[in-house]
Amino acid sequence: MKILITNIKELLQVRPKEISKVVGEEMKKLPSIKNAWLVINQDKIEGFGSMENMPKIDYDKEIDATGKLVLPSWVDSHTHLVYAGNREQEFVDRINGLTYEEIAKKGGGIVNSAKKLQETTEETLFNESLKRLEEVIRLGTGAIEIKSGYGLTTEAELKMLRVAKKLKEKHPITVKTTFLGAHAVPPEFQGNRTRYITHIIEEMLPKIAEEKLADYIDIFCEDGYFSIEDTERILTAGKNYGLKGKIHVNQFNAIGGIKTGVEHQALSVDHLEVLTDDDVEHLKQGETMPVALPSCSLFLGIPYTPARKIIDANLPLALATDYNPGSTPSGNMNLVVSLACIKMNMTPEEAINAATINAAYALELSNTHGSITKGKIANLIITKEIPSYGFLPYAFGTNNIDQVILGGKTIL
Ligand code: NIG
Ligand code: FE
Repeated sequence: MKILITNIKELLQVRPKEISKVVGEEMKKLPSIKNAWLVINQDKIEGFGSMENMPKIDYDKEIDATGKLVLPSWVDSHTHLVYAGNREQEFVDRINGLTYEEIAKKGGGIVNSAKKLQETTEETLFNESLKRLEEVIRLGTGAIEIKSGYGLTTEAELKMLRVAKKLKEKHPITVKTTFLGAHAVPPEFQGNRTRYITHIIEEMLPKIAEEKLADYIDIFCEDGYFSIEDTERILTAGKNYGLKGKIHVNQFNAIGGIKTGVEHQALSVDHLEVLTDDDVEHLKQGETMPVALPSCSLFLGIPYTPARKIIDANLPLALATDYNPGSTPSGNMNLVVSLACIKMNMTPEEAINAATINAAYALELSNTHGSITKGKIANLIITKEIPSYGFLPYAFGTNNIDQVILGGKTIL
C-alpha cells in the first residue's frame, strides 16, 4: 500500500540525514519544506520533496493536505499509562491545602495507586489502559514509554509490564517499557528501604528479565523515596541485565541523582524541576538526555524545569507527559509543547524538536522515529488547516490534529 500526501502547506522536521538529537542553538532550527509532498510505502517514509518538482509516483491512496502541516508524531518518552483507578480525592485534598509530599506521607500517593492496582485484575487493567493509549494516539503520539511502579510486589509489577507488553500488540504505536519497582517503599518494607532494594534486585528483576518485560530501569531518586546509594544499586543491577537507566530525579530536591545518572550512562534523567549549576555541569559530561515534564509542574503547581538554563548551556532537552494518576493525569503532548513555550520560554522550534527527535533519543528510537527522513517509520500527524507551526503551541488546549498515521496506516 502506497499513500501519497500532496499539497502539504509545510512539512516539518525534515532531516534528510539521520541525526540522533539536536543540542543547544541547533534546537532553534526546525528544517521544513513548504508546499511539499510525501510518499509512504507500507510502513515507511519512502520519499518527500517540493510540489514544484514532484516526480511521477504510483500510489494506492492520495491525501490532499492543502492548508495543512505534516510533522512526525510526538514521542512520549516518560509515562505511567498503565494504572488502576484514579486519585481524584488527592486532587481535591491538594486544592484544600495539602501538598503532594504531605499526601504521600499520610499513605496516599504512589502506595495508594499500588493498592488499587494490586486489587485490579489484569483484564481490567488492560482495558482501562487501552482507553488511555487510544486517547493519546488520537492526540498524535506515535511512540511511547510505559513504566511499571504501581505494583510494588513481584506479582503486581509483572502484571503491569505484561499489560504494557500486550498493549504493544493492539496498535501500531511503538511501545518501550521500563521497570520502576523502586517507585516507593511499599508498606510491607516500611522502615527497611534497603531491604526493598535488595528484594527488587534479587526477586523482581530476574523474573522481569527472564520474561523480557522491560527495556529500561527506573528509580524515584528523591528525599523521602530513594537515595543516591539506592540509585547506584538499581542502575548497576539494571546494567547487569542490559537495562539502561531512565530515572526520576530532581523533582523536589537536588540530591545528586543527575551526577549518578550521568556516571552510570543513564539514557535519560527526567523531571529536573530543581536544577543546580553543578547538575548542568554533570549533564555536559555525558550523553544522558534531560527530560522535562511541564504538565506535571502545571498539575502540582511546582516549578517548571529551567529549559533556558539547559539549552543555553548547549545541552539537548526532551519533553514528555509523565501521564500518571497522581502528578499528571494527562497524556496530551500537544499541551506539553504549549506549556514548554508558555511556561519554560522555549520557542516553538525548540519545543517541537524536544517532543520529536530529542524525545526519540530518550527511547533509543532516533534511527526510526522523530523526524521526516527516508526509511523512518511513517508515524505522522496531519494538522487541521492552520496558519503556521507556531500556531500549534500558541492555540493551547485546541485540538489542531486532523489525521494521524501510524506505521503507514491511517488511524483517524
Ligand atoms: O513522575 N515522581 C514520581 N512518580 C510520578 C508520580 C507518581 C504518583 O504520584 O503517582 C511522577 O511524577
Ligand atoms: Fe514519572
